[in-house]
Amino acid sequence: MQTEILPLLRCPATGGPLALDGPAGERIVEGALVGPRGARYPVRGGVAHLYVDDARWAPKAREARGWVQLFRDTGGYIDDPDDYLMPHVGRPPWDEIAPQFDIALEIAAPRPGLRVLDLGAGRGWAARHFARRGCATLAVDVVDDPLVGVGRSLTLAAHDGTRISPLVADGENLPIAPGSLDVVFCAATLHHATNLAALLRNVGRALRLGGLLVAINEPIIPDRVAEAAALAEPDTARELSYGINETRPHLDDYRRALRGAGLRERRIFPWQTYRIGLEDMRIWAGQLGVAGPDALPRPRGPLAWLRRAPSDLEGLRRAWGEHLFRTRGGTAIIIAERKP
Ligand SMILES: C[S@@+](CC[C@H](N)C(=O)[O-])C[C@H]1O[C@@H](n2cnc3c(N)ncnc32)[C@H](O)[C@@H]1O
Repeated sequence: MQTEILPLLRCPATGGPLALDGPAGERIVEGALVGPRGARYPVRGGVAHLYVDDARWAPKAREARGWVQLFRDTGGYIDDPDDYLMPHVGRPPWDEIAPQFDIALEIAAPRPGLRVLDLGAGRGWAARHFARRGCATLAVDVVDDPLVGVGRSLTLAAHDGTRISPLVADGENLPIAPGSLDVVFCAATLHHATNLAALLRNVGRALRLGGLLVAINEPIIPDRVAEAAALAEPDTARELSYGINETRPHLDDYRRALRGAGLRERRIFPWQTYRIGLEDMRIWAGQLGVAGPDALPRPRGPLAWLRRAPSDLEGLRRAWGEHLFRTRGGTAIIIAERKP
């Protein structure tokens, strides 16, 4: 981890500042971070382990073991050259993740000076793109593994000649100073939280006022489908059988958790509808066999014309995207801003 990140870190037990016990330099490779009451958190091989090994951590430790075992059992536990290309590797599921990440980069506008935390970073492929754009970048995950956990981010950064600070920590007890981040980025992380409301409260606290949560690749299930039914789908059930925490939120679950975290929703949308034109919406609706944008109810009430004029393409995109989530479900990009 980079020494310059130390002032941003907090003791996960007390919330107090941390001091370094070990050799100081530009990077901290081996040593310990020490909290106010003497609690010690090791830094090993450049990875800081900032969690309390208690009952709250137990499901995270189980999930961490589960991911490593799943990668082993499915042949993915390798020094994968594709890690250097991610997300632009051109095969499923990355062919659907890459366009979402491109949209995320456009919205987050990473540049030198921004402090960005990739939460649930996995191997840190996304953190790598932020670091390459000059951001002070943290990669946080419960998995420390050098091939499939945050340890991998150090290899990616070394390859690029950039700097990433990897932390093994729980997003539901995020050891980050309040108001210190410009962007929290997540790829397919929110639906792995055991407590989404707590995770987002931690995100909200760590962001500065106006700071952004940019989450991609988050599943939303249709309103009429029960979560238990969605969790029984084979791929999801397999992850659960490895001890990986899985949830399948409805649109309103995300909204409720954002509101409770002091995060103002800017937009929750199916990535395919970003900048989509009216004609393409109609064609896609026909292919899906769902109501098209022209069939949506018009806004009613005072000043309704202001809320969505017929020419308001963006309003139609939003309304149609919401209709898709509620009726068919889908994969969402979630953008929210820390409120004052
Ligand atoms: C589906 S994976 C996505 C990994 C990576 N973002 C990617 O797109 O390749 C979800 C990741 O979230 C991590 N995760 C789950 N719960 C977490 C938590 N409470 N705090 C931090 N990371 C968590 C998991 O360990 C896992 O690496």
